Amino acid sequence: MTTLPWYDRIPRTRIYLKLPEIIGGLAGVISGAEVGEERVGTFEQAFAGMMGVGQAVAEPYARIALYHVVMALNLPAGSEIIMTPITIHDIVNVLLIAGLKPVFVDIDPQTYQMDPDRLLQAITPKTRAVLVTHLFGLATDMDHIQSLCRQHGLVLLEDGSHAYNAAWKGRKLGTFGDAGFFSLSSLKAVSTGYGGMVITREPGLAEGVRQQARQLPAVAKKHLWAIIFRNLILNLATHPVFFSWSTFPLVRWISDRSPETIRKMQTDNPHVLRLRELPASWLWKFNDVQAGLGLECLSRVQGWDEKRRQNAQILLERLGGVARDRLPRLLEGSHNVFWRFPFRAPEGAGFRRFMARRGVDLTTTLLPCCSSMPIFADIGRETPHAQRAVREVHFLPVHPTIHPDRIHQQAEIVLEFLKHTPHG
Ligand SMILES: Cc1ncc(COP(=O)(O)O)c(C=O)c1O
Repeated sequence: MTTLPWYDRIPRTRIYLKLPEIIGGLAGVISGAEVGEERVGTFEQAFAGMMGVGQAVAEPYARIALYHVVMALNLPAGSEIIMTPITIHDIVNVLLIAGLKPVFVDIDPQTYQMDPDRLLQAITPKTRAVLVTHLFGLATDMDHIQSLCRQHGLVLLEDGSHAYNAAWKGRKLGTFGDAGFFSLSSLKAVSTGYGGMVITREPGLAEGVRQQARQLPAVAKKHLWAIIFRNLILNLATHPVFFSWSTFPLVRWISDRSPETIRKMQTDNPHVLRLRELPASWLWKFNDVQAGLGLECLSRVQGWDEKRRQNAQILLERLGGVARDRLPRLLEGSHNVFWRFPFRAPEGAGFRRFMARRGVDLTTTLLPCCSSMPIFADIGRETPHAQRAVREVHFLPVHPTIHPDRIHQQAEIVLEFLKHTPHG
């Protein structure tokens, strides 16, 4: 029986900001750097350079990035926007606030990405735009989606929050559409504590977005304190030593007694609401403290992506023989960065408990299937593959700081689980 050593358990994920960087951010807030904007331009240029596009505009959140893009596009009220149903509910909220009608199309059950055939079926005379979310850092057939958008005269937007440096046939995801946008929140591969980014090749669209972003008020100091403090806690709680000795035993103790508690704590958020307007707490100008953090992340993102890809490759090779139908289907031409490594386990809490007893902490996606959320009942749709993915897909940890030997052990533990299960 394989079990990870008690001093080196694997956390479900880690944040990408290093401890000294967070402390540097703290020092920045103490010295009042949050009022500065000089490094923001440098960060935007570095981001645009990494993506190979001309324009990048930093935003307070990804959801505001999207809002500013659709406002700058000036789409007629009531226009339909076809979208992937698995995303944060506030992405849907901002589209509704902007006067658009989100139309959810189901994902492909094996790639987890927007299915171009279903996209085609959902197009109506009122459709004006398509929003593709590149879930988990895996690529879909962007040639197909791009050509459908061109044929039907639709704006193409991409949410690349999970997919920094992922590509389709050599071209980065986020650069196929009229605009791409990214979240820079704590768990993303490029993080600024919180934040978002718009990229586009069109100077006019960039200007429309920039005018809105630059009008936002400077961030309240207490908001920035709270964000930095949150990142500090997340970093410490998932640090290998601290995690193995304190977070992990606590998580195990809770999940042994009540298997769904932790998951519910993260998904049953009482603040999940249908909004009529943008809350003021989302509307802060991106600042120099964030830009400093982002520049640090940018300097290593490609190296870390590569390490994560190598970890994912170990799992694909070790599990491919016996569990192919539980692994994602990777398309020819895709360069996948595996922000998360999806593994289908309908056994749910039983699987999580088995893994936890052997030292691997894991979770399902915490993103909801928005097409079946009660708050969006009026625009709800049957998207059975997305609903199933939210229930069954578990993320096997592949964070770049996990040593490949531990990934091999993790694969061994999964194989042991499969031997003991009727689905295996
Ligand atoms: C796919 C996706 N899009 C957008 C977001 C929202 O990001 P933000 O909190 O920066 O608005 C998230 C956050 O987790 C996400 O996973």
